[in-house]
Amino acid sequence: MTRKLIFAANWKMNKGPHETEDFIKSFVSNIKGEDLTCEVVIAPPFVSLSKLNDLLHEGNHGIQISAQNCSQFDAGAYTGEISALMLRELHVKHVILGHSERRSIYGESDEVINAKLTKALENNLKPIFCIGETLEEREGGKLEGVLRTQVTDGLKGISDRELAEVVIAYEPVWAIGTGVTATTEQAQEAHAFVRSLIADLYGEDAAAKIRIQYGGSVKPGNSGELMACPDIDGALIGGASLDAQSFFEVIKNGLVD
Ligand code: PGA
Repeated sequence: MTRKLIFAANWKMNKGPHETEDFIKSFVSNIKGEDLTCEVVIAPPFVSLSKLNDLLHEGNHGIQISAQNCSQFDAGAYTGEISALMLRELHVKHVILGHSERRSIYGESDEVINAKLTKALENNLKPIFCIGETLEEREGGKLEGVLRTQVTDGLKGISDRELAEVVIAYEPVWAIGTGVTATTEQAQEAHAFVRSLIADLYGEDAAAKIRIQYGGSVKPGNSGELMACPDIDGALIGGASLDAQSFFEVIKNGLVD
């Protein structure tokens, strides 16, 4: 089974419309003439989505747009929230859901994340569904239990057909923004386990097809060895995606066998 690698830039709360424009200008010159055999996704803050869409539309660069969150509700009295339908209107294709920062800082539970996944899929957005354990959980021998709960509860009620639109991002919380990357062995082991959870829930075929990104301090220097692991199908990149050259190098180095 060959799965197309998918690299997604998670800019978090960085880059308004002006910086988005500067980034795209350099990134487009980086990828010009390159035959990238992968999917490339950029997730800017909400306020830069429209600008990103205009910039990408001009040149048809094959870069896809993602949001970093969406509401679990359709519309109404939810001050500060953005609906999946509104994102569709801006030509957004993906949405990052369940990121550890949403879980830990904003208290999003597996139930809330499940409701958001359901709403995103109902509106034809492709979720990048994040899961991952804290250092305390890993050291306490709870890795598998935590991942099982996050996957099972997060995907509750999601059909086989809907699962085909989901990308999972395994991001050990202790590796996010810390400069500490999981070793390739640790990452591969967790990815293989997540794939086995999907096989239990949806069958071997679905498990063989689903893409599982790795996230947590991915940079140009480690992307090649991570992407060489059989169960790693791309990356969700925070810090190293803020600079066009380094995001490009993460992708380029990740595509080398
Ligand atoms: P990082 O972030 O690459 O800066 O560790 C990854 C993420 O949070 O998605």
